[in-house]
Amino acid sequence: MTDASHAVSSVSVSTARSVPEGATAVGYAVAASGSVPRQLGVSRSTLTDNGFHAKPGQTLAVPSNDGLLVAVGIGDADEADAGVLRRAAAAFTRAASSHDHLATNLADATSLDPTEAAQAVTEAALLASYRYVGLKGDDDVASNLTELTLLAASKRSKQVGAGIERGRTIAGAAALARELANTPPTYLNAADIARRAVDLGPDAGLEVEVFDRDDLEQMGCGGMLGVNRGSTEPPRMVKLTYTPDGADGDVAHLAMVGKGIMYDSGGISIKGNDAFHQVMKMDMSGAGAVLSAMSALRALDCPTKVTAWLMCTDNMPSGSALKLGDVLTMRNGKTVEIHNTDAEGRLVLADGLSLAVEEGVDAIVDIATLTGAALTALGPEVACLLGTNQNWIDAVSAASERVGEPTWQLPLETERYRKLLDSVVADMRNIGGPYAGTITASIFLSEFTGDVPYAHLDIAGPMKVDSDEGIYAKGATGFGTRLLIDLACSFSAPEPAPSRLA
Ligand code: BES
Ligand code: MN
Ligand code: ZN
Repeated sequence: MTDASHAVSSVSVSTARSVPEGATAVGYAVAASGSVPRQLGVSRSTLTDNGFHAKPGQTLAVPSNDGLLVAVGIGDADEADAGVLRRAAAAFTRAASSHDHLATNLADATSLDPTEAAQAVTEAALLASYRYVGLKGDDDVASNLTELTLLAASKRSKQVGAGIERGRTIAGAAALARELANTPPTYLNAADIARRAVDLGPDAGLEVEVFDRDDLEQMGCGGMLGVNRGSTEPPRMVKLTYTPDGADGDVAHLAMVGKGIMYDSGGISIKGNDAFHQVMKMDMSGAGAVLSAMSALRALDCPTKVTAWLMCTDNMPSGSALKLGDVLTMRNGKTVEIHNTDAEGRLVLADGLSLAVEEGVDAIVDIATLTGAALTALGPEVACLLGTNQNWIDAVSAASERVGEPTWQLPLETERYRKLLDSVVADMRNIGGPYAGTITASIFLSEFTGDVPYAHLDIAGPMKVDSDEGIYAKGATGFGTRLLIDLACSFSAPEPAPSRLA
């Protein structure tokens, strides 16, 4: 498999006081009011006459004798936050995509903390330059970017340098998540992703344990085994443990669980639409986001203990596949009657969530491309967020806002809708009715999280984009990686609280 996270992390990023010799494209921040940087050599009215109003993320190439000069809009300078800088840096990177050495003063153009600003600019420039090269014969598709210089006053260079390092780590992680999800299914099965996790372990400071079919049978992971039954490829569950340096017994402990359906055909309830099949290699995006986030924690000095489970298998139809009406016994002992084999994500997640509860963690977050209904509800850019503890949901929501991976809370409505999962023969069925599919899926999952504060992210919408845009390139987005990193690094055990929308 190609490794484009390597392409992102091989870009050299540094800071300098002035534009270095080799930089052929330079981007200068322009605010919506106030002076225009003199280096651009143009007046405000010239910019305006050319349709440039300094909106966040707007760019205009300015004529210049040597190289490319770009005016980069940041809107109101006093309101520019990390999100504005990410948009601006991504736009500049795209405007200069034919160049290999870029320089910009974006990290030094606002009143934002220099480390935070440099992180945002680095992260967005690197992610905007990401291309999935895949199995193409020509290497033209790869990004040209090899060097990025962040222009900053020397008194801030140390802080800018720290931001650059964090930005590089985080962009590398998100690029890895994209890479895993973009990879064709035959090139990344459950055993392959488990191997990737094992390979990442030592450098990332992770303990990595891999569980095969026999292990899963011994552990009673009926959800994993049931979904895997139709596949010729064996399942893998991967447990990752990150323990911060010098952690004592009191350190806060977070669990992450990722849906790792390596290919979702629907099983016997086979998907009837080729366009859906086409993107179901990305049904492991949750597991990809978790693995990628975990891979960055040590480099970022994350103070939280984090244990993660990747629940990996295909969902295929065959003579041995799960049948409708079959009943599975899950890791926590609850029984599930199968009414639709295409509702498989919740089955594999159930076992991971049960194990997280047994681990005695302070909170659980899972991430999954779980329901088409999430896409219907909030569209392709916003993930659905649900859970059982409002304080914990609010923490996930705050992380989402900080990193610019948008989420919106839906109500869990257990009291109203739990009955939709009632089964005559088992503790519950695996689907609800025709409506509120994201909610009934979440209620199902919450049956496996006991009293542990629980939040669920349904990323069926934002798992991919259909065209190049901002920090994203057509294909997998790596959505959730940056959110999970932020969540882990800022984690404290949530206070007990029922969900406002329970
Ligand atoms: N992986 C799909 C959900 C999905 C759909 C993700 C589109 C990304 C884009 C999931 O396993 C699934 O098939 N869900 C079913 C559930 C239904 C059978 C209750 C769905 O949403 O149709
Ligand atoms: Mn499915
Ligand atoms: Zn699925």
